[in-house]
Amino acid sequence: MPRKFNFGAGPATMPESVLTEVQEELLDWNGLGLSVMEISHRSPEFIEIAKQAESDFRDLLSISDEYAVLFTHGGATMQNAMVPLNLASPEGNVDYVNSGHWAKRSIKEAERYTNVNIAATSEEEDFKYFPAQDSWIFSDNSSYVHYTPNETIGGLCLRTLHDCEIPVVADYSSGILSEPIDVSKFSLIYGGAQKNIGPSGLGFVIVKKDLLGKAQSITPNLLNYTLINEGESMSNTPPTFAWYVAGKVFKWLKSMGGVEAISIINNRKANKLYDYIDSSDFYSNNINIENRSIMNVPFLLGNEDLNDKFLEFSKEAGLLALKGHRSVGGMRASIYNGLPEEAVDALIEFMDFFQKEYS
Ligand SMILES: Cc1ncc(COP(=O)(O)O)c(C=O)c1O
Repeated sequence: MPRKFNFGAGPATMPESVLTEVQEELLDWNGLGLSVMEISHRSPEFIEIAKQAESDFRDLLSISDEYAVLFTHGGATMQNAMVPLNLASPEGNVDYVNSGHWAKRSIKEAERYTNVNIAATSEEEDFKYFPAQDSWIFSDNSSYVHYTPNETIGGLCLRTLHDCEIPVVADYSSGILSEPIDVSKFSLIYGGAQKNIGPSGLGFVIVKKDLLGKAQSITPNLLNYTLINEGESMSNTPPTFAWYVAGKVFKWLKSMGGVEAISIINNRKANKLYDYIDSSDFYSNNINIENRSIMNVPFLLGNEDLNDKFLEFSKEAGLLALKGHRSVGGMRASIYNGLPEEAVDALIEFMDFFQKEYS
C-alpha cells in the first residue's frame, strides 16, 4: 500500500528513508545478528550510537560545550515537573508566559513546586497572538521565565527571542530543528521527540551547565538533571530504540543540508498553505500573521457543518489526521520536517476541490 500523508501533530511523520533504514536493520543491526532493540545500553555498540546522536544534535543546533545535552524519559510533559524541581525553590519565584494549551499545562504543573507568576498572557484574546517579549513582566528574584515558542494546538509561535534579563526556559517540542535558533539565548530548551526528532516517549533537554546542581531535595534521582548528566542519560535503562531512531533522523537532517536548509523548505510549505487559506473565502486562519506557526496550521471552514465531510473525503484522498484539537475546532495541518512538500501541495489541491464542490 502506498504511504499516506500524515498531518498529525505527533507522533508525526517520519522521513521515509529513516523508516526504510530502520526496517532493513531491524533483525540484524550492523552484522551483530541482533536488533538494536536487543542490545545492552552499556554495550560499546549502543554507547557509540548514543554519542553519535548527541554529537549530530549538537552540530545541527551549534550547541556549545557550555550546555549539557540530555536524552530523557517521559516526553515533554515530564519536563513540566523537572524544570521547576531542578531550577526553582519552593519559596522562590518563576515566570511563565501563557500562550495557550501547552503553556497552561506547564504552568499548572510548576505551581506544585514553586511560586508561579504569569509574565504575560494572550488568553483574553483567545490566544490569537503571542504575547510580545517586551510585554513580559518578571517577578522579584525570578529563577527563570518559561515560554512555549510554538503552541502546537493554537498554531501560534514566537519566532525570535531577544536577550532576556533572566534565564529563559523554552518548551521547543514543536519547533525544534524546524528553523535555526540561537541556543546561547536560552538557559534550557526541552521537548518531546515525536514531532521533528523521532519516536514518542523520548525527551531532550539542552541545559546550561551552570544551572546544574540546584535541584530541590525532593527531586527524584531519575528526574535530577545533574545526575542524568553525570550518568550520560543512562541513570537507568534509557529508551534505546527511540534514541537510535532519533540518531537516524539527525543524520537525515544533516544530509538534507541541516536546519538552515530545512527551514527554507518549511517556510515555503507553510507560506503556500497560509497563502491559499488567505486567498479563499471558504477557509480561515485567525492567528496574528507574524505569530503564525510554520509547523502547525489550524484552519476553519466557514460552514462548520461541512467539517465531517471534509475529514471523510480528505481521508479517502490519503490525507490523514487533519482534525483540529477539540479546544480549537476545525482543522489543523501539522507540517513537520518529515512531511514532504508534495503533501502540502496535495492538501491544497484537495482543499480547492472541496471548496469548489461545497461553496
Ligand atoms: C508544545 C508541546 N508541549 C508539550 C507536549 C506534550 O508532549 P508529550 O506528550 O511528549 O509529553 C506537546 C505534545 O504535543 C506539545 O506540542
